[in-house]
Amino acid sequence: MEIQEDVSLKKCNTFGIDVSAKYFVEVESENELIELCKSDFLTDKRHLILGSGSNILFTKNFDGLVIKNSIKGIKFKKSGKLIRVIVGGGTDWHDLVIQSLENGANGLENLSLIPGTVGAAPVQNIGAYGLELKSVFEQLRAVEITTGNVKVFTKAQCSFKYRSSVFKEELKGRYIITEVTLDLHNTDKVNTAYAPIRIALEKKGIDNPTSKDISEVVMEIRNSKLPDPSKIGNAGSFFKNPVIPKVDYKNLQVKFNGMPAFPQAANNKVKVPAAWLIESAGWKGKTVGGVGVHTDQALVLVNHGEGTGRELKDLSKEIQDSVFKKFKIKLEVEVNIL
Ligand code: EPU
Repeated sequence: MEIQEDVSLKKCNTFGIDVSAKYFVEVESENELIELCKSDFLTDKRHLILGSGSNILFTKNFDGLVIKNSIKGIKFKKSGKLIRVIVGGGTDWHDLVIQSLENGANGLENLSLIPGTVGAAPVQNIGAYGLELKSVFEQLRAVEITTGNVKVFTKAQCSFKYRSSVFKEELKGRYIITEVTLDLHNTDKVNTAYAPIRIALEKKGIDNPTSKDISEVVMEIRNSKLPDPSKIGNAGSFFKNPVIPKVDYKNLQVKFNGMPAFPQAANNKVKVPAAWLIESAGWKGKTVGGVGVHTDQALVLVNHGEGTGRELKDLSKEIQDSVFKKFKIKLEVEVNIL
């Protein structure tokens, strides 16, 4: 474990923003991390925990210590139909999905190709194509930064919500997730709740899809809409989908014919796709300076190469303002802006 000084973060964030960290350290085991947290080095410094930087927007240099979680490893424990998977927090999420499928452990296929690390997944309760992490989550281990103490968090203690958890709210920045345990299975049960998955399977003539079929279809859908961060800087969805009262939606529908909405568990509310609002406000495919709105998914902001974090932040503010002006709906940012 070596603490480096003045390190460029350009390769450590998927927006490809060129800022630097005053100090930078990469930890490869829980013990190394405990040692770091118990040392005096951290006491008076700001710190930032980084996985693969796929949900962060840097607007300036980071004047503190960046701790990169590189604690890797995947273990499978089979008992009957249940396959318990214990994964190091620094493992790449999609590598976990693929290795699980190869080992006959099903249940993560709908979450194929999500950028990021396993340790970051619970922080915002990642979700896509009809599945959220919380539905396969069992527990996690995390190290408290100020003390170096290890704590095990059960599912209930994580307080998972739509794109959020206790680690994005009350405990924000206080713990580093070193290990995540998920409960997968070796049955044929698949989740085809999301309509575009069913349509894609039908087109391929697949009647009884396996988990691997679902994974392939999800990868195709994602690749057709979402830009590859290694080619064009982005952090996936920039905003959350707003949840609004049904009555407000009914009023908006009168004015904006064809406005989509998805029913919520709380039956007096609906979720409106932010992408539709942004597209309707005229932003889809627009370029402003070095940044812009993706041509195929209006919820994704992109860095065309030389864009800055400031430009992206300004663009996001302009989008929020124009969506509010048109629909009186407040868009909440989903990525972490620093
Ligand atoms: N739509 C538009 N214009 C667009 C794109 C979409 O009007 O440019 C409308 C359509 O009506 C479409 C609806 O938005 O039916 C939903 O679009 P999509 O299925 O692409 O999903 P999303 O709601 O925009 C969410 C997640 C994504 C996840 C997809 C698929 C959030 C903030 N985003 O996007 O997650 O991949 O569903 O499940 O919940 C991420 O978090 O980084 C992310 C990419």
